[in-house]
Amino acid sequence: MRRGGSLAANKRGPELNKSTWAWAAVLLGSIAITPAFAADPGQALYEAHCSVCHGESGKGAPGTADFAGKGGPLSFPDAVIFERIAQGYRSAGSPMPMPAMGGKDGLTDQQIKEVIGYLRNKFGA
Ligand code: HEC
Repeated sequence: MRRGGSLAANKRGPELNKSTWAWAAVLLGSIAITPAFAADPGQALYEAHCSVCHGESGKGAPGTADFAGKGGPLSFPDAVIFERIAQGYRSAGSPMPMPAMGGKDGLTDQQIKEVIGYLRNKFGA
């Protein structure tokens, strides 16, 4: 009886090892991924304040600017983009304006610069 019991325990050994390795892989994976998110504050800002309209892909809802398009909003110099993010913007005939994201209750100048850096890195131009 005792012998049988210990055999059964031995049989479970390799299975336990397998799942231990699986957990180790999951843990290592999340450790490797976490710093990538923390490394770019602009990305966190974009996801929190911009992607609801502009989308993860930068193409966004109809009526919003396509960041990825050639000759699009990112072809303007930083100062112009900064102004449009901070104070809002409406192009001729546009059905929907870009809301002002700066100001007293909005993003700080530094945060807007970080978001512009993220836009340029992520969507080119
Ligand atoms: C409520 C929806 C909404 C949110 C939130 C929003 N935008 Fe926009 N954004 C728009 C729309 C709509 C346009 C197009 C306006 C137009 O062309 O009249 C636009 C245009 C722009 C443009 C292009 C201006 C140009 O030169 O054509 C930039 C750059 C931009 N948004 C950046 C951002 C950033 C960065 C954030 C986050 C900090 C953000 N937007 C948040 C709706 C939004």
